[in-house]
Amino acid sequence: MAKPDESAQTVPHVPVLLAEVLHALAPLSGSRIVDGTFGAGGYSRALLEAGASVIGIDRDPSVLPFAEALKAEYPSRFTFVAGAFAELDQLATRPVDGVVLDIGVSSMQLDQPDRGFSFMREGPLDMRMAGEGDSAADLVNGLEEAELANLLFAYGEERKSRRIAHSIVAARATKPIATTTELARLIEKTIGRKPGDAHPATRSFQALRIAVNDEFGQLVEALFASERLLAEGGRLAVVTFHSLEDRIVKRFFDPDKGGPAQSRHLPQVVTEALRWSDVLKGVKASSSEIARNPRSRSAMLRSGHRSSAPARSASFDGLGVPRFRGAA
Ligand SMILES: C[S@@+](CC[C@H](N)C(=O)[O-])C[C@H]1O[C@@H](n2cnc3c(N)ncnc32)[C@H](O)[C@@H]1O
Repeated sequence: MAKPDESAQTVPHVPVLLAEVLHALAPLSGSRIVDGTFGAGGYSRALLEAGASVIGIDRDPSVLPFAEALKAEYPSRFTFVAGAFAELDQLATRPVDGVVLDIGVSSMQLDQPDRGFSFMREGPLDMRMAGEGDSAADLVNGLEEAELANLLFAYGEERKSRRIAHSIVAARATKPIATTTELARLIEKTIGRKPGDAHPATRSFQALRIAVNDEFGQLVEALFASERLLAEGGRLAVVTFHSLEDRIVKRFFDPDKGGPAQSRHLPQVVTEALRWSDVLKGVKASSSEIARNPRSRSAMLRSGHRSSAPARSASFDGLGVPRFRGAA
């Protein structure tokens, strides 16, 4: 049995809810499973050890050494594809028996100061998982004040978003905000810090990371792509790390909870068919896992089995996806 943080010292990223994810996917020898968030390959390795074939997907090129190591161990059963999981039904071929998504950042991404994900580490204000598109610095220095405030509120649930956006706009008038710690200090100076509370920049950094990587858009597309890709009886397991993401997954699995509307043009018998059965109520990490790996504290696993009903067209409607552009 591993001692409390032994695994955290030897493994680059400790997989969260691993036993629960394996239980949800029930990988059989010979089954084909897509790991849409390969990271350091913790889930992929466990699935391979269980006898499945695995297609690992990640949009962060820095995971390649982990993928190459796993390929050397399982040359015939493991394949890695670089890309975004929104397109997973184009990156993997049918038939697929399982899809797993472990949404969010990896420990490697947080630990590398030059990636700019952490307010604890001095680095460029970047946060781009795939290294392309607008960086966090582009948003912080380029968005209008009202839009920046809306972003921090909608994606980070930051109640002091307007004060923070106002300070950012005042500060960048002198010189662009370039680093993580510069932004973190500015937020702390603006809204203060209460002993015992999370760092005051936590919510703003979350909001910026979600916007930079279009995390909600990617999640919605990946859920519908899984619905199209999975064979009847195939299983989808999704681990999220905050309530905004969890709400999307919950509503996707259960349209009665306000999920995506069915097409008016389909016959009634089809509109009523459920795409998912055996939908698991959210599963959280045990207290022993949280003690071993504090990152698992906010994790939530949801899963379901694909029915034979035709896949829906992808739609954001009814999923409760936050938006900041055009918000009041
Ligand atoms: C929490 S980590 C996954 C850790 C992995 N389960 C393990 O056990 O090592 C999330 C990974 O998903 C990747 N990722 C996040 N969003 C993605 C997207 N839209 N498409 C592909 N990969 C993505 C990140 O680059 C990161 O490597």
